[in-house]
Amino acid sequence: MPFGLPNISWLGYPLSLPCAGHAGLGLRAAHRGDGPALVSHLRALEPADRRMRFCATLGDDALERHVSGLWARRALVLAGFDGPVWGGPLHGPGPIRAVAELSIAGDEAELGISVDTGLRRRGVGTYLVQTAGALLAPRGVRRIRAYTLPGNASFLKLAHAIGGKVETGPDEVEVHFDVGALGVGYRRRRAAELLRPAA
Ligand SMILES: CC(C)(COP(=O)(O)OP(=O)(O)OC[C@H]1O[C@@H](n2cnc3c(N)ncnc32)[C@H](O)[C@@H]1OP(=O)(O)O)[C@@H](O)C(=O)NCCC(=O)NCCS
Repeated sequence: MPFGLPNISWLGYPLSLPCAGHAGLGLRAAHRGDGPALVSHLRALEPADRRMRFCATLGDDALERHVSGLWARRALVLAGFDGPVWGGPLHGPGPIRAVAELSIAGDEAELGISVDTGLRRRGVGTYLVQTAGALLAPRGVRRIRAYTLPGNASFLKLAHAIGGKVETGPDEVEVHFDVGALGVGYRRRRAAELLRPAA
């Protein structure tokens, strides 16, 4: 199936991934009603991944509190749905397989990102970060910061590849992204998607 209903996202593209029963991963901003699906995604992360994501060991209850607290903040939560992006009268949205959370403060945003183990190394994380940059630029955000633990090879490789500046401390690694540069990367990828002939 070419990329079509029910997996069109308002961001206008699907990611070409082998998701169940359809052709891509649909992205949209998550809202409070998506809380349980976000919790399920975070709970499915291995303990080592949870540490890389939160720079701490978080149990299931803490993950639930983290998600409940998201809606009180000035934040953008960008989620990748494996199945319908929106619910309808007879179905809910598909499960969430990838998330980029961005807490905004002034002209900066702090990023927390995670991708389901089975969908990694296909560019989903990169796409989420670039998309976040494109969406936050019009909101006046200039810089995105992220924190992780030393040795997070996948995140550091992702960051280097899209121009992130990495500062390594003894206990923590801080990564800075320039929002303008992320937006350029996003638009290049969108253009490539649009120009690619339909399968
Ligand atoms: C970090 C994370 C979001 C990356 O997601 P992803 O969808 O795999 O990201 P991408 O596919 O866009 O890019 C990952 C890059 O790291 C590389 N990579 C992955 N695992 C690697 C490893 N063990 N060693 C070296 N490179 C690795 C990939 O090859 C890819 O580079 P490429 O584009 O040259 O192939 C994902 O691994 C994750 O959820 N980790 C747990 C949470 C976390 O660490 N969050 C970051 C801090 S908030």
